[in-house]
Amino acid sequence: MTHAIEVRNLTFVYPDGTLALKGVDLVIDEGEFAAFIGQNGSGKTTLSKNIAGLLKPTEGEVLLFGRSTKEMRIRELATSVGYVFQNPDHQIFNMTVYDEIAFGPRNLLLSEDEVRERVEEAARIVGLKEEYMEESPFFLPKGLRQRVAIASILALRPKVIIVDEPTTGQDWKQSIEIMDFLKHLNGLGHTIIIVTHEMEIVARYAERTVVMAEGRKLLDGPTNKVFAEAETLRKAFVKPPQPTRAAHALSHYGLRPDVLSVDELVTEIIRLKASGAGDNYLAQRSLGGR
Ligand SMILES: Nc1ncnc2c1ncn2[C@@H]1O[C@H](COP(=O)(O)OP(=O)(O)OP(=O)(O)O)[C@@H](O)[C@H]1O
Ligand SMILES: [Mg+2]
Repeated sequence: MTHAIEVRNLTFVYPDGTLALKGVDLVIDEGEFAAFIGQNGSGKTTLSKNIAGLLKPTEGEVLLFGRSTKEMRIRELATSVGYVFQNPDHQIFNMTVYDEIAFGPRNLLLSEDEVRERVEEAARIVGLKEEYMEESPFFLPKGLRQRVAIASILALRPKVIIVDEPTTGQDWKQSIEIMDFLKHLNGLGHTIIIVTHEMEIVARYAERTVVMAEGRKLLDGPTNKVFAEAETLRKAFVKPPQPTRAAHALSHYGLRPDVLSVDELVTEIIRLKASGAGDNYLAQRSLGGR
């Protein structure tokens, strides 16, 4: 089977000699929703840009739907994978929101009617109102600039969409809005990768999590299994979401360590109590002592 993304023994060195990725192997299939996490400087952005073809491997290779990024023309790359920059201001350069979103489709040499259709569709998906279309993107608040940046990628309708830190600078409500539409796109068949430091967001949305540390892939698997690896995560300076940490702290009382949400934590505590195993805990600790 052809994978959406296949990273083979990828090493990447920046022109100044910084060795940012060291022999990374990674396979992501079409339709997955994955998260890249890890400490600052661990290589998440460098890996993402290599997958998007914006950087080319120093050694090894990246295959998109079976084709090496080294052989792909820009147009083929742009429709296979879209990368939304960590800082939207590194991406935005047109005078109006409309032109910004239309830039990609125009480069695909679509007719102006098709371009308009794609711009309107992308703007609708990210919730950008018509009234913003003739505004300058530079003067919009950060949250809206981020939406413009995402819309300009969506307008290319890439099969894989990578969003680098989609929720930084957004409040919780905006974060949920952005993440919900990425989930919606995932439901439409797009493969989604998010790069983030927000573990609650990872727990809520990503089925799969890849942990990077010092340019290497440290862990990779279903999100609940990855967060259950408390020891390894500590070494990578990654703090699992709060409900998971609570479950870890209570694991010697029999709580499963792969809990992701408060709901799951409560269910586990109830299960434990019903089984009788929790009674000791309750007797020894807080609740019984008062
Ligand atoms: N343009 C560049 N030139 C030289 N070195 C770079 C460049 N960009 C990143 N690096 C270095 O490459 C390594 C990996 O950086 P990268 O930006 O991929 O990490 P990251 O995991 O995305 O970090 P963050 O969470 O801070 O965004 C770091 O040592 C970083 O300093
Ligand atoms: Mg980064």
